[in-house]
Amino acid sequence: MGRRKRRVPAARMKPPGFEPVVAGMVSPRRAVPADIELPPYARSGQASPAPSGVAPSDQSTIEAMRLAGSAARRVLGAVAAEIAPGVTSDHLDEVCHETCIAEGGYPSPLNYNGFPKSLCTSVNEIICHGIPDNRSLRDGDIVNCDVTIFVGGVHGDHSETFLVGDVDAPSRRLVEVTRESMYHGIAAVRPGALVCDIGRAIQARAEAEGYGVVREFVGHGIGQIFHRLPNIPHYYDPAARTELVEGMTFTVEPMITMGLPRARMWPDGWTAATADRSRTAQFEHTVVVTPSGAELLTVSDDEPQPFLADDPTARLDPAGWPQQLSTAPVRAG
Ligand code: CO
Repeated sequence: MGRRKRRVPAARMKPPGFEPVVAGMVSPRRAVPADIELPPYARSGQASPAPSGVAPSDQSTIEAMRLAGSAARRVLGAVAAEIAPGVTSDHLDEVCHETCIAEGGYPSPLNYNGFPKSLCTSVNEIICHGIPDNRSLRDGDIVNCDVTIFVGGVHGDHSETFLVGDVDAPSRRLVEVTRESMYHGIAAVRPGALVCDIGRAIQARAEAEGYGVVREFVGHGIGQIFHRLPNIPHYYDPAARTELVEGMTFTVEPMITMGLPRARMWPDGWTAATADRSRTAQFEHTVVVTPSGAELLTVSDDEPQPFLADDPTARLDPAGWPQQLSTAPVRAG
């Protein structure tokens, strides 16, 4: 009582101001050894039209996708271990490229419809499809690294958003809720459910925290082909009434924004940024529909499979989810 309100200087009340990300220099295209099997578009840069329809994958394709998915997980782990302030996204691209080749695979983004690099690196307000360049990661950035590897005739597609050094609490919260949103979407997968159930679960989790869900980019069917039907919207789209059936393979990859979820394309034709430059995060797994739910394909054999459980509570328990991949240890002192 009687205590005077202390006035906080306006500068300290403002949310942290972030410098916008600007395009840097892109290094020359990296070479692929002759013994690596190429996807059909690798030379021409033209992805052929995907088949219509949403045919489930057969058992041998699913088995190949387990191998490709665990390879994608290892590649993303190798990329994550390099992430630190001062590291360029071009370096992360090099690590992705070399690790894909060491796995006996081809980095799927390379020359996919002309994409110039082997990895997508999307920093801060970049929603997706950021092109690795000579920009150094800064203390406080967040960066999504999206790995896809083509190996054994199929693609495995996997991404996480990583913290660079010391990141402010609101951005950390965004990253955590985005990860939760993805898992809530995967938890909705089971035979007989509809594609729109996935987006409904994602949107409910994200909007409960006041975040936006990007609509311009969606998850996708995947297998021998990088991108095919079904499209998987990450918001509730009442028109997405395709029924999920056992053996369907697709990605769940929500892009969640602090501000309005409107995208603006950079002149490079790839980089999608939020129109209001608010920060945005993304996580992605490739999954297959099983008799009881969903199997995560982009994990290693020793990681948990919480979405095989019939029990909805078990599916939504964060303690049962695969751990986040770790970045370079922060140096002491
Ligand atoms: Co994808």
